[in-house]
Amino acid sequence: ADRKAEPYLNSDQNSFAFTSATKRWPVILTQAIDAVFRASPGTSDELKTKEGRKIVEELVKLKYELQHNRALSPLRDDGLPDIAHYNDALAELGEPRWLDLSWLFSECYLYRRISTSFTTSTQWKSFDVFLSSKLTTLRSSLPAILELAHRYSSITTPSTFTDEASSLLFHEIFLICLWGNATDLSLLTSLSYEQIQSLQGSHARKESEKNILANDLDKIYTLLTSLKASGQKEIRVDIVLDNSGFELFVDLYLAGYLLSQGLATNIVLHPKNHPWFVSDVLPSDFAILLNALQDPIDFFITKNDNEHEIKHELNDQDADAIKGLFASLATFHAEGKMTIRTNKYWTTQDPFWTLPEDKELWEDLKSSELVIYKGDLNYRKLTGDVAWPPTTPFDEALQTIGKGSGCRTLALRTCKGDVVVGLDEGVDERLRREYKDNVDDQAKRSWAWYGKYAVVQFCDGKA
Ligand code: F6P
Ligand code: MG
Repeated sequence: ADRKAEPYLNSDQNSFAFTSATKRWPVILTQAIDAVFRASPGTSDELKTKEGRKIVEELVKLKYELQHNRALSPLRDDGLPDIAHYNDALAELGEPRWLDLSWLFSECYLYRRISTSFTTSTQWKSFDVFLSSKLTTLRSSLPAILELAHRYSSITTPSTFTDEASSLLFHEIFLICLWGNATDLSLLTSLSYEQIQSLQGSHARKESEKNILANDLDKIYTLLTSLKASGQKEIRVDIVLDNSGFELFVDLYLAGYLLSQGLATNIVLHPKNHPWFVSDVLPSDFAILLNALQDPIDFFITKNDNEHEIKHELNDQDADAIKGLFASLATFHAEGKMTIRTNKYWTTQDPFWTLPEDKELWEDLKSSELVIYKGDLNYRKLTGDVAWPPTTPFDEALQTIGKGSGCRTLALRTCKGDVVVGLDEGVDERLRREYKDNVDDQAKRSWAWYGKYAVVQFCDGKA
């Protein structure tokens, strides 16, 4: 296998890595510092406040080290099993500085390091430092949530659709799930709330179809409908989740659709164990979303103090549609058809090329019919976040988890990074010429940085 392609480095001014390390991460750290300040209870809880001050100091120090390109210190041992893996890698690299490092390694280290400040405390152990921004955007997604909730019962009633209509519906639900990823919060430092809302509605989805640069959905339709037609008892589909809020909502929407149409018999969802890349799903985010759907008026209206949002009303039909969706998801969960499975692997720095080395997790994934990887970071990990030529076949970029690996992989990814594979000849060059930010500087692949374009790519590792 060819591993000659080089990782994207933070020092590479043509890569989004450089902008991320020098501009976005300091802003994200500042927001985290603010969040701890705001959550400190003051004199009502001296111990927690004291620990909060220490956490703030640590985050300030981290920000200083990042901005002054200092060496990365070993992670503090918080007793959790992934720390040694980071520290072994750091030791092997020999005191690397922030700008010397690969984008993937350093960005994962950043979030894992932030989390150690909390996990080593006594009062802040389960504090999600990014929670308030997650809640704000979930509340501001109400228009898109409503639109989808109103359609839920019609897409989940046992099918009386023609083949053509079934296929169209299937494609549309997957595209909803794809574009749900356009709205992650770590990009909020570059996009406004209004821009994010405009990425979410059905009009935006139709407009965006031409921006899907590779689309293997037909193969997924054939796969799942044939499995269903074969009468196979169990059809398990896994989703390696990305962001909470609206994206988790559309992931559950997809799960509800697949289960009710018999295109899957059980869905396994994989969240993260630590606050991750700002908006990634934690186990606690499920409860937050489900509670919001169970009592939409309370969550979206009564408690909504989001100044960015154009105010919305919820009438009785709206509230009923959302509650109906909740009831369906809650039933699937209660019946054991929709489960959540955590694993420390998802917050390591590793490209997914090392998945087969994690025997237990890999065996588990292999017993699934299809593993769907959501989002940009997962795509960077699938492809190693190295500078592949953009026409490299997706199978090849997957390396150890590609052809013959025993696992079927589907990436649903809106592009928010540099790596991209599986494009037709000339597409990258054309977009470099045409994309507005690129006009003066075709050395950068900035068309791929802001979630405007997407790829839907499949590799059948069981074939
Ligand atoms: O490109 C910006 C960025 O924050 C990257 O750091 C990261 O790969 C990605 O976006 C996170 O996006 P997603 O939530 O889709 O993985
Ligand atoms: Mg994310």
